[in-house]
Amino acid sequence: MHRDEIREAWDAEAAQFDDQPDHGLRDPAVRKVWGTLLRQHLPAAPARIADLGCGTGTLSVLMAEHGHDVDGVDLSPMMITRARAKARDLPLTFAEGDASAPDLPAAFYDVVLCRHVLWALLEPVVVLRRWVDLLRPAGRLVLVEGSWSTGAGLRADECVELLAAAGRSADVIPLRESTYWGREISDERYLVVSQS
Ligand SMILES: C[S@@+](CC[C@H](N)C(=O)[O-])C[C@H]1O[C@@H](n2cnc3c(N)ncnc32)[C@H](O)[C@@H]1O
Repeated sequence: MHRDEIREAWDAEAAQFDDQPDHGLRDPAVRKVWGTLLRQHLPAAPARIADLGCGTGTLSVLMAEHGHDVDGVDLSPMMITRARAKARDLPLTFAEGDASAPDLPAAFYDVVLCRHVLWALLEPVVVLRRWVDLLRPAGRLVLVEGSWSTGAGLRADECVELLAAAGRSADVIPLRESTYWGREISDERYLVVSQS
């Protein structure tokens, strides 16, 4: 799909995107488990975090509420509009841009976080190397991905292989509990932390 088509497709999703429990985190129980998960796998606040393909900014906002400084980037103007509406006075910026080649400063971030976007990007190893270039020397990648029952996605072993090809380690944390998703799941969902 051409980038303009991808942008239009996600623009069309933006208005109802947060209706999914894991997207909007409107249910306090769902919000709580994602908050706990992020606290477990992010450095102590305040860290500088790039949230690539940030969508409506739900995770960006959650991380900013934890005291982190977050820069969210998304291809879709409609997603960014919704993200900005959530920013309030939190330490957040949101910008339209391509997560494949982020226009962000090199060696500046403690964390590059990306949820449910890597699987769809072309040349993922090249992209991962670009993301690593954004990190400070001790920085980490935090990726949330899945291999969904729809047939789309990226298996955890494939994600680990991509990271290895980019010269990175990977610790996989399965996310099987229904509370993350607001329902029971039978497909593969996980978080990966890559610290070096
Ligand atoms: C499944 S949503 C995930 C949103 C957010 N990460 C979350 O987990 O709530 C995918 C998002 O990636 C964005 N996206 C897709 N391709 C992109 C690209 N090349 N650069 C930036 N954003 C992209 C879409 O606009 C959409 O907002």
